[in-house]
Amino acid sequence: MDIVITGNYEEMGRSAAGIIAELVRTKPACVLGFATGGTPVGTYRELIRMHREEGLDFSKIKTFNLDEYLGIGMDISKPYEIDQSYARFMHEELFKHINVRKENIHIPDGLTKEPEEFCRWYEEEIKRAGGIDIQLLGIGGDGHWAFNEPGSSLASRTRVQALTKQTLDDNYESFYRKAGIKREDMPHFALTMGIGTILESRHALMIVNGIRKAGIVSEAIEGPLTSKVTASAIQLHPGKVTIILEKPAASKLTWSIGKA
Ligand code: PGA
Repeated sequence: MDIVITGNYEEMGRSAAGIIAELVRTKPACVLGFATGGTPVGTYRELIRMHREEGLDFSKIKTFNLDEYLGIGMDISKPYEIDQSYARFMHEELFKHINVRKENIHIPDGLTKEPEEFCRWYEEEIKRAGGIDIQLLGIGGDGHWAFNEPGSSLASRTRVQALTKQTLDDNYESFYRKAGIKREDMPHFALTMGIGTILESRHALMIVNGIRKAGIVSEAIEGPLTSKVTASAIQLHPGKVTIILEKPAASKLTWSIGKA
């Protein structure tokens, strides 16, 4: 497990994007797992910069996103701040700025009429692509990875998941309040890759910023392996693991720099 502590959010993003770019250069037809939320935006910004200024070529990559709300889908006719689908987030924050092929993008379909069938297909599609080379991950305030809420099996696969009160509160504050959407109208379920699915990625790349996440990230990395903090499954990852922390997020690690 490599742990990298960076001075600020931008540096965290540059560092994560550098790892992804290195893979895209050496294996142009690689499979990338992407995440949504405030955490990866800086990473995506840097990938876009490398595409524009350095010609980083995404034309052969395949992508799989971690999760999507159930019941909503991208609606390009709506303003971005109203369309809270993760498909729209990826379109706005990364995909429309780079040369990834539309048919190579996979995001769980929040509008599927057959969620269970869809989840099985998604798992198969990841296998058919040859598995995920690098999976980018954040961590939720409740310790979740993707939408694997506390109590999710550490062997779970892609499935429908009910969202916890904390996740609903976090998402409301981060996104829905600004969009003028009522709390009761937020999606309460999601489609999510399982922890077992994530653990099959060849390289788990977790990024975390903000003092608010310092406690939960130290629980995930240094605490006991527990389904109460599903990101603690990172300790079980059999492949390569890189954790890039912005300094405040690293402040509660027991061996953290700057402590006696
Ligand atoms: P955030 O979400 O990046 O918006 O903090 C992370 C997560 O919930 O996994």
